[in-house]
Formats: sequence, C-alpha cells, structure tokens
Amino acid sequence: MNKIVAIGCDHGGYELKIKMVKMLTDMNYDVVDCGCYDTGSVDYPDIAKTLCKKITEGECEQGILICGTGIGMSIAANKVCGIRCAHCTDTYSATMAKEHNNANVIALGARITGDELAFCIVKSYLSASFAGGRHENRVSKITALENNNLYSL
Ligand code: RB5
Repeated sequence: MNKIVAIGCDHGGYELKIKMVKMLTDMNYDVVDCGCYDTGSVDYPDIAKTLCKKITEGECEQGILICGTGIGMSIAANKVCGIRCAHCTDTYSATMAKEHNNANVIALGARITGDELAFCIVKSYLSASFAGGRHENRVSKITALENNNLYSL
C-alpha cells in the first residue's frame, strides 16, 4: 500500500506544489491535495486549516504546506492541536524535524527555497523516522502545552 501525504499551498506556493505533487507521485505516494488549485489569491490559514484537519482526523500522517515564505503556513498550522509544523529551509532541519520533533507537517517557502532544494528537503523529511527515546518526553511536553492553550479543530 502506498503511503499517503497531504499537500497544500497558497498562490505563492502553487507552482512549486504542482512540481512537488509530481515528485511525490513518482515516489509512489498517494497525494491528498488540499488546494489551492490555481494561482488566484487565497488566504494561507484556510489552506493550513484544511490540511491540518486531514492530519488530526487521521486521513494522512504527514503534510507539506507551501506559501511564499513558509512562515504564514507554519504559524497557522502550529495553532492547531496535534500539529507540529517545522518551517524548513535546509535538509538537516527537515531530517531533525522528524527525528527529534516528530513534526507531522513541514512548511516551505517557494519564494525562498529553489525547487531542487525543496525536493531534497521533502525527501529528507519523508525518509526520516522519529527517534523516540528522550525525544518522546519532550514532544509530550509540547502536547501538554497545546492541550492547555490552543484551539482544537
Ligand atoms: C502571499 O503573498 C504571502 O504573504 C504568503 O504566501 C506567505 O509568504 C505568508 O507567509
């Protein structure tokens, strides 16, 4: 069975998303596309909310959000209970985001990060695994913080 990954973008990330979907499909991922579906202007929190819901409701385990900088998407996603979104501009951070932080979403900036690097970042993230151990307790403390403070979808 193919692994499932969710992807979403705003108008700033649309062109990169199209290329990323192709890369993921070529890697035998089933891709759940959460929009947007053209270059018309949209509000990134709406797309982040749609994608995060796919994760929190269990349809997908991992997600990729793309906007102009990756900043807006990551801020929005991290407001959702159960989402740990890492804004990544390099492959090492992408690997560590999964290994140490068990990030279930990464955010990319299409106006910051070139296509080829973005592909490498996503491959690094998807191929990494949560290391557990001492990191388990730390991630649990993040969950405790969000359970006390953040809004649930
Ligand atoms: C849209 O122009 C831009 O603000 C958005 O893509 C993103 O960079 C926000 O953080």
